[in-house]
Amino acid sequence: MRKIIIAGNWKLNKTSLEAIDLVNGFKRDFVDITEVDIVVCPPFTALAEVHEVLNESNIGLGAQDVYWEDSGAFTGEVSAPMLKDIGVQYVIIGHSERRQFFGETNQTVNKKIKAALKSGLIPIACVGELLQEREANKTFVVIGKQLEESFAELTKEEMAKIIIAYEPVWAIGTGKTATPAQAQEVHKFIRDFLVKLHGKELAARVRIQYGGSVKPDNIAELVSQGDIDGALVGGASLQHESFVKIVKNSCLNSAKK
Ligand code: 13P
Repeated sequence: MRKIIIAGNWKLNKTSLEAIDLVNGFKRDFVDITEVDIVVCPPFTALAEVHEVLNESNIGLGAQDVYWEDSGAFTGEVSAPMLKDIGVQYVIIGHSERRQFFGETNQTVNKKIKAALKSGLIPIACVGELLQEREANKTFVVIGKQLEESFAELTKEEMAKIIIAYEPVWAIGTGKTATPAQAQEVHKFIRDFLVKLHGKELAARVRIQYGGSVKPDNIAELVSQGDIDGALVGGASLQHESFVKIVKNSCLNSAKK
């Protein structure tokens, strides 16, 4: 059984005070929700304070990136033990914006996943194709290579701890959501990859989120697909009303996986 997981990626948004305000509202409105896992991923500067608010709640806390070394002369970086120390449980790794603007590669993603796992953080590992790659019929080649290289040398036990997020780059922040069928096709491809890598039992356990213009009115249909186990939400996770609706609408299909 796979439990649906809805995570909000706040990207470069919210001061500490704004973050506290937002999660206080979520805490109130999500208090009775047990059918799905809920995670918020504020910027680094708000993590410690948000953790104080979320303590003992049913909302998990994630960071948006991590460096692979534990400590040392790496100005500007934040390590997995540091995140763990302030109560972080999840970390987004390899988001397309990090790949596009900050030189992230499948190789650095691989190192970051290993570092996160070593410290007991749950990686949310992102993959996704560009528009021109989709249009050139290269989606599966691109995703296959991302999966192969990002998960290189990971054991079956390690893979079991990972969450994968499929985020077609052309659907991020564009309002152009992949259709449920388009998303399901790639999610199935990812699960088949996991079957080949570590067998059916492992593949049936790993949760695969969809990301890219997820909204209150498309989440239910997305998670009704056989291999879509939740969502990584950007813009719509920054407002109380839309994120609450996304989480609640995802519960409508939560019993199906
Ligand atoms: P949007 O939901 O704003 O399209 O962003 C998706 C995303 O990048 C989540 O990580």
